[in-house]
Amino acid sequence: MAGNWKMYKTPAETSAFFEKFRPLVEKSEHCEIVICPPFTNFAAAVSAVTGTHIRIGSQNIAWAKEGAFTGEISGAMLVSSGVTHAIVGHSERRQYFGETNATVLKRTRAALELGLTPIVCVGERLEEREGGLTEELLKIQFAEGIAGLTEHQFAKIAIAYEPVWAIGTGKTATPEIAADAHRAIRAQVREKFGKDAAEAVRILYGGSVKGDNVKTLMAQPEIDGTLVGGASLDAVSFASIVNF
Ligand code: PGA
Repeated sequence: MAGNWKMYKTPAETSAFFEKFRPLVEKSEHCEIVICPPFTNFAAAVSAVTGTHIRIGSQNIAWAKEGAFTGEISGAMLVSSGVTHAIVGHSERRQYFGETNATVLKRTRAALELGLTPIVCVGERLEEREGGLTEELLKIQFAEGIAGLTEHQFAKIAIAYEPVWAIGTGKTATPEIAADAHRAIRAQVREKFGKDAAEAVRILYGGSVKGDNVKTLMAQPEIDGTLVGGASLDAVSFASIVNF
């Protein structure tokens, strides 16, 4: 269960969140819990989760090791900050910051080289869904991105299916729509990396996941977890998702 805080919270607000959140998930050993705060909150977040099973992730990672890349953050910087996961190719990065399938692949490789777990996001926009192009689009995102990994690398990633029309809009995909998309992604995985890889890969659903819809989403065998934006900002609400 992963939380994506996007551009919200200061270090002080981060510490306050974990004060409240930690006891609520103390016994939640049934899943991995990852929170991805803004870069400036890593120190506060990592110190708040030390000794717990909560992990801290980044919302991005540079493809280069270092260099003249204003505004980027390197894998080594993340590792040395105590970060263990990295979201790659979130639709907001694709939509507003020119992220492409090719750069998603490069960032994913950079994360893997340093032992970080990439959470690679895919998902269609409203016009693609309405035009009946969802599967086609997912195929392209897969073929131009994730399919460039080796089998060994693929075994270490998680995928997040996030239909863009469901993100931050309050419009959750129905569990059936989400499961269909997950099945389509898993079919791509099977074709490229084989049956075992397709069974093993964790595919998270993201897009307006809340305490009151998480149960029906997670009831779909295809859905292995969730990537949560808005509802991860509040300790009680994210804990209710973790403890669905
Ligand atoms: P949301 O965001 O839960 O606020 O829809 C999900 C995401 O962008 O990862």
